[in-house]
Amino acid sequence: MTPPRAFPGSEAPTLDFGGRIALVTGAAGGIGRACALRLAAAGARVRAVDRDPSGLDDLLGAARGLAGAVEPHVLDLTDLDAAEQAAAGTDILVNNAGLQRVRPLEEFPPDVFHTVLTVMLEAPFRLIRGALPHMYGQGWGRIVNVSSVHGLRASAFKSAYVAAKHGLEGLSKTAALEGAPHGVTSNCVNPAYVRTPLVEKQLADQARAHGIPEERVLSEVLLQDSALKRLIEPEEVAEAVAYLCSPPASFITGTSLVLDGGWTAH
Ligand SMILES: NC(=O)c1ccc[n+]([C@@H]2O[C@H](COP(=O)([O-])OP(=O)(O)OC[C@H]3O[C@@H](n4cnc5c(N)ncnc54)[C@H](O)[C@@H]3O)[C@@H](O)[C@H]2O)c1
Repeated sequence: MTPPRAFPGSEAPTLDFGGRIALVTGAAGGIGRACALRLAAAGARVRAVDRDPSGLDDLLGAARGLAGAVEPHVLDLTDLDAAEQAAAGTDILVNNAGLQRVRPLEEFPPDVFHTVLTVMLEAPFRLIRGALPHMYGQGWGRIVNVSSVHGLRASAFKSAYVAAKHGLEGLSKTAALEGAPHGVTSNCVNPAYVRTPLVEKQLADQARAHGIPEERVLSEVLLQDSALKRLIEPEEVAEAVAYLCSPPASFITGTSLVLDGGWTAH
Protein backbone atom coordinates (compact mmCIF):
# COMPACT_ATOMS: atom_id res chain seq x y z
CA MET A 1 0.00 0.00 0.00
CA THR A 2 1.31 3.47 -0.87
CA PRO A 3 1.72 5.53 2.33
CA PRO A 4 -0.26 8.78 2.43
CA ARG A 5 1.65 11.87 1.29
CA ALA A 6 2.37 13.75 4.50
CA PHE A 7 3.25 17.13 3.02
CA PRO A 8 4.04 18.55 -0.40
CA GLY A 9 7.53 17.48 -1.46
CA SER A 10 7.89 14.81 1.22
CA GLU A 11 8.97 12.34 -1.44
CA ALA A 12 12.31 14.23 -1.72
CA PRO A 13 14.51 13.09 1.18
CA THR A 14 17.56 15.26 0.45
CA LEU A 15 17.68 19.04 0.33
CA ASP A 16 17.51 20.39 -3.19
CA PHE A 17 17.40 24.14 -3.73
CA GLY A 18 18.36 23.85 -7.41
CA GLY A 19 16.89 26.77 -9.38
CA ARG A 20 16.40 28.86 -6.22
CA ILE A 21 18.06 32.21 -5.66
CA ALA A 22 19.02 32.85 -2.05
CA LEU A 23 20.33 36.03 -0.46
CA VAL A 24 22.37 35.75 2.74
CA THR A 25 23.51 38.88 4.56
CA GLY A 26 26.69 38.89 6.60
CA ALA A 27 27.93 36.04 4.41
CA ALA A 28 31.64 36.88 4.71
CA GLY A 29 32.03 35.20 8.08
CA GLY A 30 30.62 33.12 10.91
CA ILE A 31 27.01 31.94 10.61
CA GLY A 32 26.32 33.76 7.32
CA ARG A 33 29.25 32.05 5.61
CA ALA A 34 28.05 28.65 6.86
CA CYS A 35 24.51 29.42 5.61
CA ALA A 36 25.77 30.49 2.19
CA LEU A 37 27.83 27.30 1.84
CA ARG A 38 24.96 25.08 3.06
CA LEU A 39 22.44 26.59 0.63
CA ALA A 40 24.94 26.47 -2.25
CA ALA A 41 25.73 22.82 -1.40
CA ALA A 42 22.00 22.14 -1.85
CA GLY A 43 22.07 23.74 -5.29
CA ALA A 44 20.97 27.33 -4.64
CA ARG A 45 22.51 30.34 -6.35
CA VAL A 46 23.50 32.43 -3.35
CA ARG A 47 23.81 36.19 -3.42
CA ALA A 48 26.37 36.63 -0.65
CA VAL A 49 26.03 40.13 0.81
CA ASP A 50 28.61 41.66 3.14
CA ARG A 51 30.65 44.83 3.59
CA ASP A 52 33.84 42.76 3.85
CA PRO A 53 35.22 42.05 0.34
CA SER A 54 38.11 39.84 1.45
CA GLY A 55 35.78 37.59 3.48
CA LEU A 56 33.55 37.27 0.41
CA ASP A 57 36.58 36.34 -1.75
CA ASP A 58 37.43 33.64 0.74
CA LEU A 59 33.82 32.38 0.65
CA LEU A 60 33.94 32.23 -3.12
CA GLY A 61 37.00 29.97 -2.93
CA ALA A 62 35.32 27.72 -0.35
CA ALA A 63 32.20 27.38 -2.53
CA ARG A 64 34.09 26.03 -5.53
CA GLY A 65 32.78 22.64 -6.60
CA LEU A 66 29.43 22.90 -4.80
CA ALA A 67 26.22 22.07 -6.64
CA GLY A 68 25.06 25.68 -6.59
CA ALA A 69 27.01 28.93 -6.79
CA VAL A 70 28.00 31.92 -4.68
CA GLU A 71 27.84 35.44 -6.11
CA PRO A 72 29.60 38.00 -3.90
CA HIS A 73 27.85 41.32 -3.44
CA VAL A 74 29.81 43.93 -1.48
CA LEU A 75 27.31 46.14 0.31
CA ASP A 76 27.13 48.04 3.59
CA LEU A 77 23.63 47.38 4.88
CA THR A 78 23.41 50.85 6.41
CA ASP A 79 22.71 51.85 2.79
CA LEU A 80 19.08 50.83 3.17
CA ASP A 81 17.97 51.72 -0.37
CA ALA A 82 20.74 49.54 -1.83
CA ALA A 83 19.80 46.73 0.57
CA GLU A 84 16.18 46.79 -0.60
CA GLN A 85 17.25 46.75 -4.25
CA ALA A 86 19.66 43.86 -3.68
CA ALA A 87 16.81 41.66 -2.42
CA ALA A 88 14.74 41.90 -5.61
CA GLY A 89 14.15 38.52 -7.23
CA THR A 90 15.22 36.31 -4.31
CA ASP A 91 13.36 33.13 -3.37
CA ILE A 92 15.11 32.59 -0.04
CA LEU A 93 16.17 35.48 2.20
CA VAL A 94 18.42 34.93 5.19
CA ASN A 95 18.71 38.04 7.35
CA ASN A 96 21.89 37.33 9.27
CA ALA A 97 24.31 40.29 9.37
CA GLY A 98 24.89 41.65 12.82
CA LEU A 99 27.26 43.34 15.22
CA GLN A 100 27.62 43.50 18.94
CA ARG A 101 28.68 46.12 21.51
CA VAL A 102 28.82 45.39 25.24
CA ARG A 103 28.48 48.51 27.43
CA PRO A 104 26.30 49.58 30.35
CA LEU A 105 23.29 51.64 29.24
CA GLU A 106 24.56 54.89 30.68
CA GLU A 107 27.81 54.54 28.68
CA PHE A 108 26.29 53.06 25.51
CA PRO A 109 27.28 55.27 22.52
CA PRO A 110 24.05 56.51 20.85
CA ASP A 111 25.59 56.31 17.37
CA VAL A 112 26.41 52.61 17.90
CA PHE A 113 22.87 51.98 19.17
CA HIS A 114 21.58 53.57 15.97
CA THR A 115 23.89 51.48 13.74
CA VAL A 116 22.95 48.22 15.48
CA LEU A 117 19.23 48.94 15.02
CA THR A 118 19.82 49.93 11.37
CA VAL A 119 21.80 46.82 10.40
CA MET A 120 19.90 44.28 12.51
CA LEU A 121 16.30 45.52 12.28
CA GLU A 122 15.76 48.19 9.66
CA ALA A 123 17.87 46.46 6.97
CA PRO A 124 15.95 43.17 7.43
CA PHE A 125 12.71 45.14 7.00
CA ARG A 126 14.03 46.71 3.79
CA LEU A 127 15.36 43.37 2.49
CA ILE A 128 12.00 41.67 3.16
CA ARG A 129 10.26 44.60 1.47
CA GLY A 130 12.54 44.19 -1.55
CA ALA A 131 12.09 40.41 -1.74
CA LEU A 132 8.33 40.10 -1.28
CA PRO A 133 7.07 41.22 -4.72
CA HIS A 134 8.92 38.34 -6.44
CA MET A 135 8.00 35.85 -3.69
CA TYR A 136 4.33 36.86 -3.79
CA GLY A 137 4.37 36.80 -7.60
CA GLN A 138 5.44 33.16 -7.71
CA GLY A 139 3.51 32.07 -4.62
CA TRP A 140 6.60 30.78 -2.78
CA GLY A 141 9.25 32.32 -0.57
CA ARG A 142 11.27 31.55 2.55
CA ILE A 143 12.46 34.18 5.00
CA VAL A 144 14.77 33.10 7.81
CA ASN A 145 15.85 35.71 10.33
CA VAL A 146 18.91 34.88 12.36
CA SER A 147 17.78 36.10 15.75
CA SER A 148 19.33 34.88 18.99
CA VAL A 149 18.50 33.68 22.42
CA HIS A 150 18.65 37.45 22.96
CA GLY A 151 15.49 37.73 20.85
CA LEU A 152 13.75 35.97 23.74
CA ARG A 153 15.83 36.88 26.80
CA ALA A 154 17.82 39.95 27.82
CA SER A 155 21.38 40.10 29.10
CA ALA A 156 22.89 43.06 30.91
CA PHE A 157 25.06 45.48 28.91
CA LYS A 158 23.58 44.53 25.49
CA SER A 159 20.77 47.06 25.16
CA ALA A 160 21.04 47.68 21.40
CA TYR A 161 21.51 44.02 20.48
CA VAL A 162 18.65 42.79 22.68
CA ALA A 163 16.36 45.57 21.44
CA ALA A 164 17.18 44.79 17.80
CA LYS A 165 16.66 41.04 18.21
CA HIS A 166 13.35 41.48 20.07
CA GLY A 167 12.26 43.78 17.22
CA LEU A 168 13.36 41.21 14.63
CA GLU A 169 11.14 38.60 16.30
CA GLY A 170 8.15 40.91 15.83
CA LEU A 171 9.07 41.73 12.23
CA SER A 172 9.42 38.01 11.46
CA LYS A 173 6.00 37.15 12.92
CA THR A 174 4.34 39.99 11.01
CA ALA A 175 5.96 38.81 7.76
CA ALA A 176 4.62 35.31 8.53
CA LEU A 177 1.05 36.57 8.88
CA GLU A 178 1.17 38.72 5.75
CA GLY A 179 3.10 36.15 3.71
CA ALA A 180 0.96 33.09 4.49
CA PRO A 181 -1.69 33.67 1.81
CA HIS A 182 1.14 34.05 -0.74
CA GLY A 183 3.09 30.88 0.08
CA VAL A 184 5.78 32.78 2.00
CA THR A 185 6.97 31.58 5.41
CA SER A 186 9.00 33.64 7.87
CA ASN A 187 10.78 32.27 10.90
CA CYS A 188 13.62 33.03 13.28
CA VAL A 189 16.45 30.81 14.41
CA ASN A 190 17.68 31.54 17.91
CA PRO A 191 21.15 30.28 18.76
CA ALA A 192 22.93 30.73 22.05
CA TYR A 193 26.65 31.55 21.76
CA VAL A 194 28.13 30.38 18.44
CA ARG A 195 31.83 29.87 17.74
CA THR A 196 32.29 32.96 15.49
CA PRO A 197 34.36 36.18 15.37
CA LEU A 198 31.39 38.07 16.85
CA VAL A 199 31.80 36.10 20.08
CA GLU A 200 35.61 36.19 20.07
CA LYS A 201 35.52 39.98 19.65
CA GLN A 202 33.30 40.51 22.70
CA LEU A 203 35.41 38.58 25.24
CA ALA A 204 37.44 41.64 26.28
CA ASP A 205 34.33 43.88 26.49
CA GLN A 206 32.48 41.27 28.55
CA ALA A 207 35.46 40.96 30.91
CA ARG A 208 35.53 44.72 31.44
CA ALA A 209 31.75 45.09 31.86
CA HIS A 210 31.53 42.18 34.34
CA GLY A 211 34.81 43.02 36.12
CA ILE A 212 36.37 39.57 35.63
CA PRO A 213 39.47 38.33 33.75
CA GLU A 214 38.93 37.45 30.06
CA GLU A 215 39.68 33.74 30.54
CA ARG A 216 36.68 33.42 32.89
CA VAL A 217 34.16 34.99 30.46
CA LEU A 218 33.33 31.78 28.59
CA SER A 219 32.39 29.69 31.63
CA GLU A 220 31.05 32.44 33.92
CA VAL A 221 29.19 34.64 31.44
CA LEU A 222 28.62 33.05 28.05
CA LEU A 223 27.86 29.48 29.11
CA GLN A 224 26.43 30.25 32.54
CA ASP A 225 22.76 29.74 31.55
CA SER A 226 23.30 27.00 28.95
CA ALA A 227 22.62 23.44 30.10
CA LEU A 228 24.95 22.18 27.36
CA LYS A 229 28.37 23.62 28.24
CA ARG A 230 29.78 24.29 24.79
CA LEU A 231 29.54 26.84 22.00
CA ILE A 232 27.34 25.87 19.05
CA GLU A 233 29.08 25.64 15.65
CA PRO A 234 28.02 27.89 12.71
CA GLU A 235 27.31 24.77 10.60
CA GLU A 236 24.72 23.60 13.15
CA VAL A 237 22.89 26.92 12.80
CA ALA A 238 23.12 26.73 9.00
CA GLU A 239 21.50 23.29 9.07
CA ALA A 240 18.51 24.73 10.97
CA VAL A 241 18.26 27.60 8.46
CA ALA A 242 18.29 25.14 5.53
CA TYR A 243 15.66 22.99 7.24
CA LEU A 244 13.29 25.97 7.55
CA CYS A 245 13.56 26.43 3.77
CA SER A 246 12.92 22.75 3.00
CA PRO A 247 9.65 21.02 2.04
CA PRO A 248 9.22 19.27 5.42
CA ALA A 249 9.13 22.72 7.08
CA SER A 250 6.42 24.13 4.82
CA PHE A 251 3.87 24.37 7.70
CA ILE A 252 6.31 26.12 10.04
CA THR A 253 5.86 29.88 10.05
CA GLY A 254 5.83 32.74 12.54
CA THR A 255 7.90 30.80 15.01
CA SER A 256 11.38 30.75 16.50
CA LEU A 257 13.58 27.67 16.30
CA VAL A 258 15.59 27.82 19.49
CA LEU A 259 19.13 26.35 19.47
CA ASP A 260 20.14 27.42 22.94
CA GLY A 261 21.51 24.32 24.66
CA GLY A 262 18.72 24.57 27.23
CA TRP A 263 19.22 28.25 28.18
CA THR A 264 15.51 29.17 27.98
CA ALA A 265 14.46 25.96 29.78
CA HIS A 266 15.24 27.82 33.04
N1 LIG B 1 27.93 34.38 17.42
C1 LIG B 1 26.95 34.19 18.27
O1 LIG B 1 27.15 33.73 19.39
C2 LIG B 1 25.55 34.49 17.88
C3 LIG B 1 24.52 34.02 18.70
C4 LIG B 1 23.21 34.28 18.36
C5 LIG B 1 22.93 35.00 17.23
N2 LIG B 1 23.94 35.47 16.45
C6 LIG B 1 23.58 36.26 15.29
O2 LIG B 1 24.07 35.64 14.13
C7 LIG B 1 24.32 36.63 13.15
C8 LIG B 1 25.73 36.44 12.60
O3 LIG B 1 26.63 36.56 13.66
P1 LIG B 1 28.11 35.95 13.62
O4 LIG B 1 28.39 35.47 14.97
O5 LIG B 1 28.27 35.04 12.46
O6 LIG B 1 28.92 37.30 13.41
P2 LIG B 1 30.25 37.63 12.58
O7 LIG B 1 30.78 38.87 13.18
O8 LIG B 1 31.10 36.43 12.48
O9 LIG B 1 29.64 37.92 11.15
C9 LIG B 1 28.77 38.99 10.93
C10 LIG B 1 28.92 39.44 9.49
O10 LIG B 1 28.06 40.57 9.29
C11 LIG B 1 28.76 41.51 8.51
N3 LIG B 1 28.25 42.85 8.74
C12 LIG B 1 28.21 43.53 9.91
N4 LIG B 1 27.74 44.78 9.69
C13 LIG B 1 27.46 44.87 8.36
C14 LIG B 1 26.97 45.90 7.53
N5 LIG B 1 26.69 47.13 8.00
N6 LIG B 1 26.78 45.65 6.21
C15 LIG B 1 27.10 44.42 5.69
N7 LIG B 1 27.59 43.42 6.44
C16 LIG B 1 27.77 43.63 7.76
C17 LIG B 1 30.20 41.39 8.97
O11 LIG B 1 31.11 41.93 8.00
C18 LIG B 1 30.35 39.90 9.17
O12 LIG B 1 30.82 39.24 8.01
C19 LIG B 1 24.13 37.99 13.82
O13 LIG B 1 22.84 38.50 13.50
C20 LIG B 1 24.20 37.64 15.28
O14 LIG B 1 23.44 38.53 16.06
C21 LIG B 1 25.25 35.22 16.75
